[in-house]
Amino acid sequence: MKIAIAGKGGVGKTTISGILCHALVNSGKSVLAIDGDPNPNLSVVLGIPKEKDLAPSLSTDIIERIETQDGKWKFQLKMSFSDILKTYGQKAPGNISLLMVGKPEKAGTGCMCGSHTVVRELLSSALLYEEVDFMVLDTEASLEHMKRGTSKSVDKIFTVVEPYYRSLQAASRFADMARELGILNVEAIANKVRNLEEEIAIKDYCKKIKLPIAITIPFDEKIMAADLKGQSIIHYDKNAKAIKAIESFVKQNFSA
Ligand SMILES: Nc1ncnc2c1ncn2[C@@H]1O[C@H](COP(=O)(O)OP(=O)(O)O)[C@@H](O)[C@H]1O
Ligand SMILES: [Mg+2]
Repeated sequence: MKIAIAGKGGVGKTTISGILCHALVNSGKSVLAIDGDPNPNLSVVLGIPKEKDLAPSLSTDIIERIETQDGKWKFQLKMSFSDILKTYGQKAPGNISLLMVGKPEKAGTGCMCGSHTVVRELLSSALLYEEVDFMVLDTEASLEHMKRGTSKSVDKIFTVVEPYYRSLQAASRFADMARELGILNVEAIANKVRNLEEEIAIKDYCKKIKLPIAITIPFDEKIMAADLKGQSIIHYDKNAKAIKAIESFVKQNFSA
């Protein structure tokens, strides 16, 4: 199953992606996490130590331009996705695989493509990879890298919302974009909810735009505290309220 996490910058996409990966692994699933953000930080939430040697960075060199039969040009990856994962991926605690695709380095070697094209091709091939039970894609704050064809393999897109109006409006735009890309299963995750009033405000808005709410995650001081120390919330406090909310969702929905 392939899950993409979308939403405005700062709403909690990376935090939720990381916790979700751990909750899935703890329920016995194999998980591949894809960090699609040009400023990648999913590795921190996944608990990869900062001092650990990073996998080699992907570069624009990974792609080549080939001529198609009808005389047009197209870009394609030089390696299969499993080879890309073996070479450029890394392991996070819990045996989660992580691949950072958001910021390919510009190689000096004549590839005529921009990093934008590389991210699109990488995401497309990731979305066709079937060797894991779950793929969790932490998107940057836009869906522009998703290709119409392959984005259909996304089984579910969560648009994360915070209880304030612009975030709600953004969630509505993401939901529309996702549906335009052919992703049918779009749901909201209400995050950083401090009280009943905020919960009701999100519920009312989502009801109006016909967006079901899959998970409601409370505002959690522990997440802020872990963040301040540069630690993963998973290691900081595995009983944190936010973790419990996501775990109970996974248990109810994905533990077959
Ligand atoms: N439920 C929560 N309670 C409190 N703080 C949170 C919660 N979820 C995320 N945060 C904090 O919000 C900030 C943005 O989160 P992040 O996951 O990086 O967002 P995004 O990936 O959408 O930009 C971080 O400082 C994070 O610690
Ligand atoms: Mg992020």
